[in-house]
Amino acid sequence: EVAQPTMSAAEEMHKQPFVIENENSRGYTGVAGGAASGKTTVCDMIIQQLHDQRVVLVNQDSFYHDLTEEELTRVHEYNFDHPDAFNTEKLLCAMENLRHGQAVDIPNYDFKSYKNNVFPHRRVNPSDVIILEGILIFHDPRVRELMNMKIFVDTDADVRLARRIRRDTVEKGRDIATVLDQPAFDDFILPTKKYADIIIPRGGDNHVAVDLIVQHIRTKLGQHDMCKIYPNLYVIQSTFQV
Ligand code: ADP
Ligand code: C5P
Repeated sequence: EVAQPTMSAAEEMHKQPFVIENENSRGYTGVAGGAASGKTTVCDMIIQQLHDQRVVLVNQDSFYHDLTEEELTRVHEYNFDHPDAFNTEKLLCAMENLRHGQAVDIPNYDFKSYKNNVFPHRRVNPSDVIILEGILIFHDPRVRELMNMKIFVDTDADVRLARRIRRDTVEKGRDIATVLDQPAFDDFILPTKKYADIIIPRGGDNHVAVDLIVQHIRTKLGQHDMCKIYPNLYVIQSTFQV
């Protein structure tokens, strides 16, 4: 058998994710956690604190599959907390376009009608920081690999349930029995917690965690700016990363 040439350590270094093929592919941040754990709240806090950066938020909800007529008639049996409920190929395609500096149109999802073709679509431009938020955003390894930082919002089950009862009855038009019948956190969401770099207890109440995350993103963005000005500096930084 012919031995395959192996990559030198230096060549490996140049394949690290922070090598930017395109200056727009800078900081993919993933935010996962149970329903009503406070993911959106945490993302809003991060975006607010990064006010002088170009940041976009992409929700995994926008990539729910439309339900067929048959599924709609038995919607109470449909598991929206299952990875197959999402069109992950479409999400990856949108991320790929953003990475290559192209704007994408993200569909709006309507929780009341279970439809994903609510117009107008939301136009998302390539940005310095792209935040991907959703209950199962860490499930698919291809999506995980995009992320430079993975955050899991960890809020107690009773708090999440109380919030869901209030939110889903008011905003999504659900009855309480339907809300209580949705126990899939342990099946697919909890097992993805192990992929997180940072776990935030208490969600948006945890200002220290949000401050640290914002500081980290700023540091990474600063490093990339330096690399743009002094391209050779990157090589030195890479050496230290090994
Ligand atoms: P997720 O995006 O994980 O579903 P949200 O951030 O949308 O969670 O929060 C779900 C609900 O709980 C919302 O109605 C929100 O206003 C409320 N909420 C979120 N964080 C807090 C908090 N720290 N204290 C009180 N209510 C909160
Ligand atoms: O915003 P959040 O992350 O809480 O939204 C995800 C939740 O919405 C999941 O618990 C999912 O079961 C629920 N969902 C729903 N109806 C849909 C789609 C998702 O209640 N049509």
